[in-house]
Amino acid sequence: MELNGHRRLVLLGATGSIGRSAIDIVAQAPDRFSIEAVAGGSDVEGLARVAREVGAKFAAIRDESRYADLKQALSGSGVTAAAGPDAVVEAALRPADIVVGAVSGAAGVAPTYAALQAGRTIALANKECLVCAGTPFMRKATEMKATILPLDSEHDAIWQALGGAAPGEVEKMVITASGGPFRTWSAEAIAAARPDQALKHPNWSMGRKITIDSASMMNKGLELIEAHHLFGVPADRFDVLVHPQSIVHGLVHFSDGSVVASLYAPDMRVPIAHCLGYPDRLRTNARRLDLAALGSLTFEAPDIARFPALGLAMDALRAGGGLPTVLNAANEVAVEAFLEGRAAFGEIPKIVGFACEKAVRDGLAREPATIEDALAVDHIARQMSAAYWR
Ligand SMILES: NC(=O)c1ccc[n+]([C@@H]2O[C@H](COP(=O)([O-])OP(=O)(O)OC[C@H]3O[C@@H](n4cnc5c(N)ncnc54)[C@H](OP(=O)(O)O)[C@@H]3O)[C@@H](O)[C@H]2O)c1
Repeated sequence: MELNGHRRLVLLGATGSIGRSAIDIVAQAPDRFSIEAVAGGSDVEGLARVAREVGAKFAAIRDESRYADLKQALSGSGVTAAAGPDAVVEAALRPADIVVGAVSGAAGVAPTYAALQAGRTIALANKECLVCAGTPFMRKATEMKATILPLDSEHDAIWQALGGAAPGEVEKMVITASGGPFRTWSAEAIAAARPDQALKHPNWSMGRKITIDSASMMNKGLELIEAHHLFGVPADRFDVLVHPQSIVHGLVHFSDGSVVASLYAPDMRVPIAHCLGYPDRLRTNARRLDLAALGSLTFEAPDIARFPALGLAMDALRAGGGLPTVLNAANEVAVEAFLEGRAAFGEIPKIVGFACEKAVRDGLAREPATIEDALAVDHIARQMSAAYWR
């Protein structure tokens, strides 16, 4: 990776929460960055606005039927409009120093992998990429000598805490969880929670899917699987710590008894700035941490009995093979059903558990060797999850 000088970026998921925060960081260092291409799912107006604002050369919308609308919205701007899955991949392949992978869900796998295959440096927010297809993804990164910068806050925190430590010096990695809006609720109340309650995260403002995952604590499970692939550390050397203030994001326990923690205010612009500027520190207006004002930080063990989704993800991490792929796909199906009023909150882990058990019975639990294998397992797992309603 070319570490100094001006950097060209591609933003996959430019209209989302991470995409907009990345644009904010870029706007604070206009001499350091330019944005070559932006891509989004279906929000044509949002994508056209962002493309014009950042002066992108290319804008791609995943929804093929919106091509004419995007072209119209970009007329006179000089930005080339394109639509469809191949157009999103084309955006990922535009000349760039860093591709920010911030699509939500397994939809991010194909374009992010395309960028990796071309040897691009990836600032990876899209954890589902590694949960769905961690082994082929990391193998390709090694083969292409491509750098993956961990943009997810807990992983960025662990990266910062690790320093240059050798793998043998690390005893344990710990990622923290806020506990979400239902941290203190009873199991019965959680099972009956409504979408408007689950979408109210106490500390973070994020996209809808990750907000629901945070409420079920599936998000923490997905992050454990992500961390396992990013840092090459076995499942039994990870812990989750519930920390309601979301100030300490990750900790590394070393072999000499030292523990190094990374702290910052809950503002995703901090890890985004760290990734985009690395190894330099950018000057940003991200929220500052005032520990004296906070007074105290508290920690507690996660309660798997009330948050079974976390337990399912830990089981999938330990089992490995294709189970994380199945878990991820089933969770996407379940979250969508919950948001559309077709499933209760308490059914999210039931749907995921149903799909994982069926995958084991049907022999789908072997490791996907390639991205194509992983996407095929993802596809079948979505169909298996739908069988929950039959
Ligand atoms: N938000 C956070 O604080 C945070 C923190 C850590 C990690 N992450 C991870 O970062 C990723 C993005 O999260 P987010 O909160 O930014 O989500 P979000 O606000 O829902 O944004 C998702 C982005 O992906 C785009 N998109 C959706 N489907 C697409 C497709 N098939 N092809 C291309 N683009 C597509 C969306 O476009 P439209 O707007 O057109 O739908 C939008 O730009 C997730 O994997 C999440 O777990 C987020």
